[in-house]
Amino acid sequence: MKEVTSLLFLQNVMLICSWSLDDVCDADDIKCKNPQILTPGEITYGQCYRHAALRRLLKVSFLTCLKECMKTSTCSNVSYRRDWKMCDINGNINSEMELVQEHGCFSSNISSWSKKLVACATQSCAEGYRCAVKGEEITCEIAWNRLRKMLIHVGENLDTSNTELCGQFIGPAVSGQVIITPCNTLPKGHLVKLTSVNTVPTVFHLTEVEVYGVE
Ligand SMILES: *[C@@H]1O[C@H](CO)[C@@H](O)[C@H](O)[C@H]1NC(C)=O
Ligand SMILES: *[C@@H]1O[C@H](CO)[C@@H](O)[C@H](O)[C@H]1NC(C)=O
Repeated sequence: MKEVTSLLFLQNVMLICSWSLDDVCDADDIKCKNPQILTPGEITYGQCYRHAALRRLLKVSFLTCLKECMKTSTCSNVSYRRDWKMCDINGNINSEMELVQEHGCFSSNISSWSKKLVACATQSCAEGYRCAVKGEEITCEIAWNRLRKMLIHVGENLDTSNTELCGQFIGPAVSGQVIITPCNTLPKGHLVKLTSVNTVPTVFHLTEVEVYGVE
């Protein structure tokens, strides 16, 4: 009996060790390299989506990226940039969104990974939410939110009472949207303050901000 158990145990260990994510994880990140699942999912190397991210996480491992996608409702796949350890949690990919050749970036279809990666994966949450384990319970919590309203102020310091309102954006925004706000007047200052006015305090994602002025 004892031998049978140890044989089974050995087989299990071999199955777990027969593959690893060496090529997508940091050399010292043992947890990322050996997730406790039997087979890895699909990974498309050198290709990523642009403007498909619902959420972008920085300084996370590829494994954390997969887990976050699995927890987030409507996440279909991830794009991961290894040099920056940057994880894009991609929502529904429509026909206009294409995989773009990008060195050092790879994408993965989340349905190809075992749900065992995440304890709460069986819970389905509404759009904008992610599943979470709180003690014994599995719940849903807010994961991301569309930018609904943004105020743009120009002035000499961050105190909005001393700055002038340049303009505002009324959303909700969509993924990849380019927001252009011309100032209604010609406010002076060397500081531009962007304020997200949302009903719930969530992270405010802007990929890039460009400011144009006249001297
Ligand atoms: C990402 O997900 C979309 C929608 O399910 C799919 O069409 C696309 O092929 C997926 N891409 C990868 C790299 O898995
Ligand atoms: C994603 O993976 C699942 C499971 O392996 C597969 O059924 C599905 O066709 C894949 N989707 C795409 C778009 O490759």
